[in-house]
Amino acid sequence: MLEIKDLKKNYGYFRALNGLTLTVGDGELFGFVGANGAGKTTTMKICVGLLKADSGQVIIDGVNTLDGGRKMRNKVGYVPDFFGVYENLTAMEYLTFFAGTYGIWGTKSNSLCEGLLELVNLSDKKDTQVDSLSRGMKQRLCLARALVHNPEILFLDEPASGLDPKARFELKEILKNLSGMGKTIIISSHILPELIEMCSTLGIISHGEMKFNGSVEDAMLLSKGKVSVEATFAGETEKALLLLKESPFVTSPEAVGNKITLGFNGTDDDAAGIIKNLVMHDIPLTGFTKKNENVENIFINIMEGNEGGTAENADANVQP
Ligand SMILES: Nc1ncnc2c1ncn2[C@@H]1O[C@H](COP(=O)(O)OP(=O)(O)OP(=O)(O)O)[C@@H](O)[C@H]1O
Ligand SMILES: [Mg+2]
Repeated sequence: MLEIKDLKKNYGYFRALNGLTLTVGDGELFGFVGANGAGKTTTMKICVGLLKADSGQVIIDGVNTLDGGRKMRNKVGYVPDFFGVYENLTAMEYLTFFAGTYGIWGTKSNSLCEGLLELVNLSDKKDTQVDSLSRGMKQRLCLARALVHNPEILFLDEPASGLDPKARFELKEILKNLSGMGKTIIISSHILPELIEMCSTLGIISHGEMKFNGSVEDAMLLSKGKVSVEATFAGETEKALLLLKESPFVTSPEAVGNKITLGFNGTDDDAAGIIKNLVMHDIPLTGFTKKNENVENIFINIMEGNEGGTAENADANVQP
């Protein structure tokens, strides 16, 4: 299990991480979501030992890695957002080099590197110079490199950025495969629908603090109050506004002209009940249209701290 506790990091006077706390269970595929500058890369670099935290703890299997030295660092693998590859090497030579840095040589290294190339679908590029690989292929080679020492936890910083849909699909399949092998994978991305589809749990970071840490289902639950409705009327809206304000499923109804916009947090039956009530009061309702927020908006709302109506029902760790 990975536990990050009260992590703080300043760059000069700028506070990049402000007491970040999060938990990722063994074998989870964890999506790390946040706007540009939220602190994702900073967090990952600290976790893999490339950056020093000012305070806080990164605990893997009960041991604080920040004072655990190389032994603990061997438990983690890292694919950075920008990576350099040694371009004069073939894919196989590249992996062999990194296996060597972990003390793996000879036939053991050969079978390991061939196995990794197969895992990331690059067997046919074994003898190809790294500089002639496509971006997606380089990305996958980097993933193979991060696996040479068989780490328990993999950190992937925006691995899908710059990849075409086919390459993203292939990467996703590889990550699901790795997850099936029991690896814990922490993946940051801006492509939220893709993370939701792939990940079991999510962490949403904003300004160096976690805003949400829980299952994808709980994140979706939090979004329930985010459905907005536009009701239209053939005539004035005063009486309708009063009735809508009485409904427990309606939030912030606002009338503009012959329309009322409102937040709605009920079921389809609840919506039908509201419509029936309006009609029974002789209100000339001409439309009641639900507009589901798209997934991007849901997360922007959570990042901004507007968790919405059902936050208290979600069994998740939402921090204000
Ligand atoms: N070396 C540095 N010196 C000064 N400030 C830095 C440095 N690295 C990061 N920062 C600042 O710390 C904050 C967090 O940066 P970080 O790279 O962790 O964000 P991020 O969530 O990875 O963003 P992105 O999605 O753009 O990759 C940003 O405001 C950034 O400007
Ligand atoms: Mg980053």
